[in-house]
Amino acid sequence: MRIKKIACIGAGYVGGPTMSVIAQKNPEIQVTVVDLNVDRINAWNNENLESLPVYEPGLDQVVLEARGRNLFFSTNVTKAIEEADMIFISVNTPTKTYGKGKGQAADLKFIELCARQIAEVSTTSKIIVEKSTIPVRTAATIKSILDHTGNGVQFHVLSNPEFLAEGTAIADLQNPDRILIGGEDQGAIQALKNIYQAWVPNERIITTNLWSSELSKLVANAFLAQRVSSINSISELCEATGANVDEVAHAIGQDSRIGSKFLKASVGFGGSCFQKDLLNLVYIARSYNLNEVADYWDQVIRINDHQKTRFAEKIIQSMYNTVNGKKIAFLGWAFKKNTNDTRESAAIYVADHLLEEQAKIAVFDPKVQKHQIYKDLEYLQSRTNSENEYLLEVAEDAYEACKDAHGIAILTEWDEFKDFDWDRIKDNMKKPAFVFDGRKLLDRNRLEELGFIYYAIGE
Ligand code: UDX
Ligand code: ADP
Repeated sequence: MRIKKIACIGAGYVGGPTMSVIAQKNPEIQVTVVDLNVDRINAWNNENLESLPVYEPGLDQVVLEARGRNLFFSTNVTKAIEEADMIFISVNTPTKTYGKGKGQAADLKFIELCARQIAEVSTTSKIIVEKSTIPVRTAATIKSILDHTGNGVQFHVLSNPEFLAEGTAIADLQNPDRILIGGEDQGAIQALKNIYQAWVPNERIITTNLWSSELSKLVANAFLAQRVSSINSISELCEATGANVDEVAHAIGQDSRIGSKFLKASVGFGGSCFQKDLLNLVYIARSYNLNEVADYWDQVIRINDHQKTRFAEKIIQSMYNTVNGKKIAFLGWAFKKNTNDTRESAAIYVADHLLEEQAKIAVFDPKVQKHQIYKDLEYLQSRTNSENEYLLEVAEDAYEACKDAHGIAILTEWDEFKDFDWDRIKDNMKKPAFVFDGRKLLDRNRLEELGFIYYAIGE
């Protein structure tokens, strides 16, 4: 089966970049990305490429090449579904905030809604591809809805999890370590394979059964998150013993059985995937009564929470056990560099902790918008919006954020922070001038020479 038209439901961090690259590499296939959110679609269609809703290095050039040729963004979900031979589901699956599994299970209401909508409007056979991260056996749910509410049309469900990391999405899509396709129907699998074969070597395309594919996505993220929590747990031990976590990470990373990647100690991992997928894994294990398995993975999340709290407490303790009324500048709010995504960013939790102590915070992030920062805090419901607005300001400029600050906390590893005029920053700060480096971004010797009191994780 040759695919002529693709629809993708969900124009977010996954759907947008993934479909842009699929369209770029398959100019003969028409790709339409749809979303209920009108503002988001308008932003994708904006002539000004600076205004795309997702910031990813290199994304603008891909959009420029394919948009209007064979890549379209629209709010007409029904039409796109009706016309497509293949439909990708890339909607969000947040952690449930209510009812059974609250705080752990993934909320599948958006996925179910998509399945119902597909069933309702389809008049021709279609291949449905799960792109969003979802708990194991979701394909069965989708298939059941399609088969029972559809118009007797044939549907094949495939799992094709996305492994791109934000900030490097375009490079990851263009040169993936592997593409994973899970499914039952060989024809459907081949149809999806054909799309990737336009640029991905055959040996990097793995096919498995549906459940292995769904589970592999959760497990990949759990293993990566585990590495970060492992090194973060050691960072605390380093601080207590006089070891240096970078040196330890380098020494163990040279062992080819361990490897050097994902051993950067930090203020804690964030992002839309790690915590959500771990919670999901824990929930699934518990629901099968595998309590030891659940506890094992739960601990990875606990270390992460501990790392964020520990960083905030280090700031308070260093500043003579009180931050009440003191200005603390936050450099970075995004969960990592080169993205405007703030979901589960460590910055949110560190800020919340300090605001509880009545600190005054000034945030500067090169890509995150002001309203997003207040929205992130509002979500925690720790205090009213007006209290958040009174205690926290968002600065347009890093020097403004740091002016008259008692301390600076680095929460995101943006490269540009390294090149700041740190001498000028120090001159405009209250003394002693503290820097708390949650990303191990700056050079200790240089900062100490300038007269800063410098703390970095794991040193
Ligand atoms: C992750 C997976 O890497 C990706 O394969 C999957 O598709 C989605 O989830 P992402 O969340 O975009 O991607 O970013 P990632 O680079 O994995 O970083 C996650 C968090 O871990 C970030 O907050 C990052 O700063 C932190 N991290 C990562 C560390 O603290 N130390 C490290 O060594 C690596
Ligand atoms: P991700 O990081 O997984 O891409 P996002 O939240 O960035 O998550 O994107 C998911 C998108 O899916 C959102 O823009 C949301 O509006 C969209 N969406 C959710 N449900 C539907 C639906 N039923 N139809 C169309 N779009 C949807």
